[in-house]
Amino acid sequence: MNTAIFAIVAYLIGSISFAVVVSRVVGLSDPRTYGSKNPGATNVLRSGNKGAAIATLVGDAAKGWFAVWLAILLAPKFGVATAGIALVAIAVFLGHLWPIFFRFVGGKGVATALGVLLGINIWLGLAVALTWLAVAFASRYSSLAALVASVCAPVYFGVVFGINELFFAIVAMCSLLLYRHNQNIANLMAGKESKIGSKSAEAK
Ligand code: G3P
Repeated sequence: MNTAIFAIVAYLIGSISFAVVVSRVVGLSDPRTYGSKNPGATNVLRSGNKGAAIATLVGDAAKGWFAVWLAILLAPKFGVATAGIALVAIAVFLGHLWPIFFRFVGGKGVATALGVLLGINIWLGLAVALTWLAVAFASRYSSLAALVASVCAPVYFGVVFGINELFFAIVAMCSLLLYRHNQNIANLMAGKESKIGSKSAEAK
């Protein structure tokens, strides 16, 4: 019962779409209407508002981190096992992808996944963030960086911590993240993917 409550709360936390909230607060168009139509930091950056993009990135990562951190903190008190923490990690990520507060139209989950990984283990999160940064710096493609980082994340975890419930949660999360990037993968293969910093004419 407590595990189910933890998972529901995590899903609700994940359902706060910072791309949409931040855009509304600063008076930008809904990011689901321009660029890639993805409510995420990369697409908000296409509006030209760097501050809004950074706030989106921090907010979406913070909610992933917070849900996992809170679950780990409260798990002993409520008798929630490691499998329950793994469920929370998945639930907050699912909330971002299919948010109940935004008609289930969510993002691709890169920042939230990073937050989840930081919550599971700070060094794991930092290693994945560094992987993202290295690929993004070299290629200028946010999506390619996310694809490489999401393949590396379960490998890093498995090598250091072994195979447990959290490993399977990370595999599931990263698989969903890859699935949500299907259009980006097609664009990359066709040489049509937009690079970091390119603006969208439709955004205001
Ligand atoms: O954070 C999502 C990123 O990997 C791709 O975003 O807007 O280019 O589809 P976007």
